[in-house]
Amino acid sequence: MSHQPGRHFLQIPGPTNVPLSVLAAIAQSTIDHRGPDFARLALGVLAEIRTIFKTSKPVIIYPASGTGAWEAALINTLSPGDKVLMYETGWFATLWSRMAKRLGLDVELIAGDWRSGVDAAAIEARLADDKTHAIKAVAMVHNETATGVTSAVPPVRRALDAVGHPALLLVDTISSLASIDYRHEEWGVDVTVGGSQKGLMLPPGLAFNAISDKARSAAAKARLPRSYWDWEEMLAANEKGLFPYTPATNLLQGLKVAIDLLHDEGLENVFARHDRAAEATRRCVRQWGLEVNCRNPHEHSSSLTAVRLPEGRSADALRAEILARCNMSLGNGLGPLADKVFRIGHVGDFSDLTVTGTLAGIEIGMKALGIPHRAGGLDAATTYLSGASEAARSETPLRVAKAV
Ligand SMILES: Cc1ncc(COP(=O)(O)O)c(C=O)c1O
Repeated sequence: MSHQPGRHFLQIPGPTNVPLSVLAAIAQSTIDHRGPDFARLALGVLAEIRTIFKTSKPVIIYPASGTGAWEAALINTLSPGDKVLMYETGWFATLWSRMAKRLGLDVELIAGDWRSGVDAAAIEARLADDKTHAIKAVAMVHNETATGVTSAVPPVRRALDAVGHPALLLVDTISSLASIDYRHEEWGVDVTVGGSQKGLMLPPGLAFNAISDKARSAAAKARLPRSYWDWEEMLAANEKGLFPYTPATNLLQGLKVAIDLLHDEGLENVFARHDRAAEATRRCVRQWGLEVNCRNPHEHSSSLTAVRLPEGRSADALRAEILARCNMSLGNGLGPLADKVFRIGHVGDFSDLTVTGTLAGIEIGMKALGIPHRAGGLDAATTYLSGASEAARSETPLRVAKAV
């Protein structure tokens, strides 16, 4: 590829920009994964990663992409033919349900419109009907990366509790962990699935399962075949600062620094920074006269915004134009949203200038292609970010609304 001046703007909703201090840690020499230095590193990150998931129980770290953590969550807890209730929030919920089917589970997928989040009332109604407790797990995606919609987890927990249903609650936080408020233990989640390449500001390559005591007990009886993904073998090795196979040593070196960065900023401040970037982005998009894909204001994602283009306009052509002119990557539409939406990532390591630079690049692309839009989008974003807007100041932070 020929050199393009200026740095590349990686504004897809993950993988995200990796801070230089994290890259430097990853670039350190690879160490002996059975030596004392590694044991210190492993015991440290295995303890500290719990603070990110907000759990006092174990978090498993696999050398894998997020898809591996999906599989691990299912095969450690379930047996062939078990019924799993899932909710079609979008592309990633659909992929997870397809995987569950391929693994031999009996999947019931509640249909969704790819513009809204999980309907806890629909889950409660289905669980209430399940008098024999045939449903062994409820699985949901906290932040649907394809649609820019965040689903509240506590109402789903309450739905299970309201009807006294013993199913496990499995939650995918791959595009919300360390960017949108999430509380594994307080919210009564049994398995939380995570990945390294988004809010954690690392390259792809680490996948996580945070597990409850109930999930661990379920694993003792679960009969789906498993080997690489087996929790108990991993937990036994982890106790001594070891892994049952070669861990992603250098990514763990990076993880240590990434966790420190998150705590230096303060997790609450990290969430607030993402909320602000998302709100600034939406104000800009609305001023342009374009539509945000997420239908419900209380479900807007703080880590990405999916933007719908007017009928007959190609989102992929716009993304290609922006890449060529501005050296910026935006996320594509997935599944039925292909070519209809583009996705703006505001997740991980970014500042107000990253956000406004991103929005400026989109304006350049729209002007170049003659996509009709109103002027003043950037102004709406900078006014909000400068704190000059009274409305902005009095607004309830979205993450508070989401936690309810
Ligand atoms: C919400 C969600 N779940 C699962 C995945 C799959 O993760 P991976 O591509 O790391 O395997 C992604 C990837 O973007 C995602 O956004």
